Amino acid sequence: MKHAFPDNFLWGGAIAANQVEGAYLTDGKGLSTSDLQPYGIFGDIVPRVDGDSYVKDVAIDFYHRYPQDIALFAEMGFKCLRISIAWTRIFPQGDEEQPNEAGLAFYDRLFDEMAKYNITPLVTLSHYEMPYGLVKNYGGWGNRKTIGFFEHYARTVFQRYQHKVKLWLTFNEINMSLHAPFTGVGLERESSKSEIYQAIHHQLVASAKAVAALHQIIPDGRIGNMLLGGLMYPLTCKPADVLETLQQNREWLFFGDVQVRGYYPSYMGRYFKQHGISLDITAEDKLALKETVDFISFSYYMSGCVTTDEELNHQARGNILSMVQNPHLASSEWGWQIDPDGLRILLNELWDRYQKPLFIVENGLGAKDKPDANGNIEDDYRIDYLNDHLVQVSEAIEDGVEVMGYTSWGPIDLVSASKAELSKRYGFIYVDRDDSGHGTLERRRKKSFYWYRDVIQSNGATLKR
Ligand code: BG6
Repeated sequence: MKHAFPDNFLWGGAIAANQVEGAYLTDGKGLSTSDLQPYGIFGDIVPRVDGDSYVKDVAIDFYHRYPQDIALFAEMGFKCLRISIAWTRIFPQGDEEQPNEAGLAFYDRLFDEMAKYNITPLVTLSHYEMPYGLVKNYGGWGNRKTIGFFEHYARTVFQRYQHKVKLWLTFNEINMSLHAPFTGVGLERESSKSEIYQAIHHQLVASAKAVAALHQIIPDGRIGNMLLGGLMYPLTCKPADVLETLQQNREWLFFGDVQVRGYYPSYMGRYFKQHGISLDITAEDKLALKETVDFISFSYYMSGCVTTDEELNHQARGNILSMVQNPHLASSEWGWQIDPDGLRILLNELWDRYQKPLFIVENGLGAKDKPDANGNIEDDYRIDYLNDHLVQVSEAIEDGVEVMGYTSWGPIDLVSASKAELSKRYGFIYVDRDDSGHGTLERRRKKSFYWYRDVIQSNGATLKR
């Protein structure tokens, strides 16, 4: 294959604190909203009591085993590792003035370990979790005060890690709050659209304030937003389907529009009016929003279709968005429709819309891996999935799109976000642990481990077209 990937392309993987670290109350960490969702984003919200225990509390024990895991990532040749900081390790309740030193020290150790191997950290400030204290005592992002608490947290970690971390992201999949408000903005699931959009507004302002803080504290750093790339196609060429698709794509592009352009797009005016939504947006908020991101990052797993025809409305599930089945695509074991071309389309559309560098910070296949009699995991299905998507990334680069890098989701098996399953495996590295928490936590290289190592080493030349 031709070398489409630039020499400085950031190859790597992406993980999130609440899905790998475990150690859920260790070294002064506070309870996060994720800790109250032991069965995942779509499971019950469970009040925690002394002595209870759930799979996520240990996850894959990355908190203690990170040196071994980073060494394995280095063996694959990772240039970049996307992690997230658990806000509750730094500010356990969320509203403290002084940070928790033990939490800060953990990420120092982690970044130092990555530096040993020249692995560039890409750090998400908030990945599907916030301090539960802010939800209980302030109403989460529904309260304007949370903007200040977040800004204080962001400034604290920027100051602390300014010499170690140059690449940052604000909120993971910021658009998913529309579908999972407790996870995204710390609101009750039954909240009204008005309440959700007001909380989202506060989060967008907080995101912009973090961007401003980063530019001030780490002038040679760069910060991006992070969108769930919810690419939708019209199911037919019926104009009504095309129009409905445009509107559904705007539901998530709205977030990018604000974060990249610095103001609310005009189409939202009509949307808010139609839904009886009136937001409290101050002049100071408008000013804050003008500080825009340096690059755009997004996750991409699947595409979906849109139809105005109720009878054709057979739902396919993603983990967050419900999408209509595309008759031309196959699905994963979890019903996610596999569409490598969609990644090229999405890259081109985002580039056309924004002309800002793009970073694919999640993409991968969740599958039930079965070790064979010798304990080997021959995950050719994962290799095929990743190969086909990466080929489309190279096509997009040839199309002229500026792509900074690619961090596949879950380079090591981890706890799934939607249902807190360990049997939904994404990794190049197998972790011996099952859905009920049994297993030794031993790490093992899968076939895809060697495949990805070769892809990185050859800068994409070994991909099969
Ligand atoms: C993204 C999230 O939505 O999808 C990740 O940012 C998540 O946290 C990933 O793990 C895959 O979803 P799931 O439900 O299979 O873990």
